Amino acid sequence: MDFTDQRLSYEKGQLDQQSVPDSPFEMLHAWMNEAIAAEVQEPYAMSLATCGADNKPSVRIVLLREITEKGIVFYTNYESAKGQDIAENPNAEALFFWHKLERQIRISGSIAKIDATKSAAYFQKRPHDSQVGAWVSQPQSGEVANREVMEQTFEQLQNDYPADSQVPTPEFWGGYEITIESIEFWQGRANRMHDRIVYTQDKSGTGDAAKWTTKRLLP
Ligand SMILES: Cc1cc2nc3c(=O)[nH]c(=O)nc-3n(C[C@H](O)[C@H](O)[C@H](O)COP(=O)(O)O)c2cc1C
Repeated sequence: MDFTDQRLSYEKGQLDQQSVPDSPFEMLHAWMNEAIAAEVQEPYAMSLATCGADNKPSVRIVLLREITEKGIVFYTNYESAKGQDIAENPNAEALFFWHKLERQIRISGSIAKIDATKSAAYFQKRPHDSQVGAWVSQPQSGEVANREVMEQTFEQLQNDYPADSQVPTPEFWGGYEITIESIEFWQGRANRMHDRIVYTQDKSGTGDAAKWTTKRLLP
């Protein structure tokens, strides 16, 4: 298959270094709100890249569940392949691509587990069958002989935990927060003259008082 003749011109917006807000969080909120308003399908879906001690990167989609004051939160199985990577190397990148808006957001930072009580609160809010599903997929990323094995386990767990009962929060499941160290906003433009503005944390600041500097990058 040859795709060398396939090209789109991106013409839906532009980004100026002078007019972006000082806080990348303000920018992230604004872009997320615009994606929701534009009815981008699953604007919360992001590619998450991790790299364990073997130096081999892995990437997969996870769902953004919260933007906090310092970063972004997603939920997963701590014993999954990504969980193993993160245990070995906390550096990660997350990427959103919203074709409808011709936008990409790239977030780089370090990952840590969130508080177990917060994970449990979210787990208990999830639909009953998703809670059961989390127990079935243990260890996530491990091999399973066939689909029937998964379905039997699902059924067994549904018997153990009927619809009106509380499914315990698994210890192996919970949230991770990526503390944002840099974040790039990319707006497609015509002739591959795309706009890229990257915010980087000024390390001389601390915590909430941290300052951010912006740069325009060549596309
Ligand atoms: C749209 C979409 C949303 C997903 N959301 C999550 C999620 O929030 N958490 C998660 O663990 N896996 C999610 N997955 C599944 C992951 O992409 C992946 O298959 C799984 O986490 C195992 O990854 P790993 O083997 O690299 O650990 C999602 C997949 C898709 C396509």
